[in-house]
Amino acid sequence: MEFENILTENNDGILQIIINRPKKLNALNRDTIEELHQAFAEAKEDREVKVVILTGTGEKAFVAGADISEFADFSTEEGRELSAEGQAKLFDYVANFPKPVIAAVNGFALGGGLELAMAAHFRVASDNAKMGLPETSLGVIPGYGGTQRLPQLVGKGRAMEMIMTAGMIDANQALQYNLVNHVCEPEELIEFTEKIARKIMKNSLVAISAAIRAINANYEDGVNGFEVEISEFGSSFGTEDFEEGTSAFLNKRKADFPGN
Ligand code: COA
Repeated sequence: MEFENILTENNDGILQIIINRPKKLNALNRDTIEELHQAFAEAKEDREVKVVILTGTGEKAFVAGADISEFADFSTEEGRELSAEGQAKLFDYVANFPKPVIAAVNGFALGGGLELAMAAHFRVASDNAKMGLPETSLGVIPGYGGTQRLPQLVGKGRAMEMIMTAGMIDANQALQYNLVNHVCEPEELIEFTEKIARKIMKNSLVAISAAIRAINANYEDGVNGFEVEISEFGSSFGTEDFEEGTSAFLNKRKADFPGN
């Protein structure tokens, strides 16, 4: 599919999905959310995609939020739909994506932008990045999972403060808050993130998918994560990757996982 608001680039199995609306600081309008969904759906089926890096064009913004101009005159029902549709199409879709998704936060990640980064499996930021959930300054609350994922990552008190003050934190504070795993120079962000991706790709991607399901189970209502772990652990024993991984170890050679 041809995209207007995003760019994609596959570099040896690492797919960069780049949000590309620099004039609007990469704000997420409806079309961009749709295109992101499409790009992820294609990446899911594409065997040449092993890991996804999600980032924004330029050095100023990852994503400066949902596109405010699009929802300024929405009714309560339209607001509810915007949130439900966005969560299903993009934010939950990314969080539950079967391949690793790393957000490379290259500048402002505000509102829906931070929510998108938080939906990724983990985050790396450039040292000029600024993060926040400013929705209450607009008279609304975060609607793309922010009230749930921010406290999961930074703790309830810090999430309360960030949402109530609508303020921004810088990359180093985000690191201290466990909101991002690493901070690096802007010009090194992609290379640094790709290095992590390459490290991931040495392992069994089939096992990694199972680990994503088990880890996410902890955050699902009514699901016992330990039970999911037992089941996924058991299923691993039936995979070719397990056979290869254990036999490679026992024969002192590098594993070549058939599922990768
Ligand atoms: N939705 C729609 N347009 C946005 C946007 C958003 N979330 N964020 C930025 N833009 C647009 C601006 O309207 C401006 O467009 P224009 O040139 O046509 O006027 C352009 O992007 C550049 O932004 P600008 O505000 O001029 O840049 P800045 O450097 O002065 O400020 C920010 C940067 C990020 C502080 C500021 O853009 C901002 O506060 N954005 C909104 C953040 C927000 O509240 N997001 C949560 C939405 S729920």
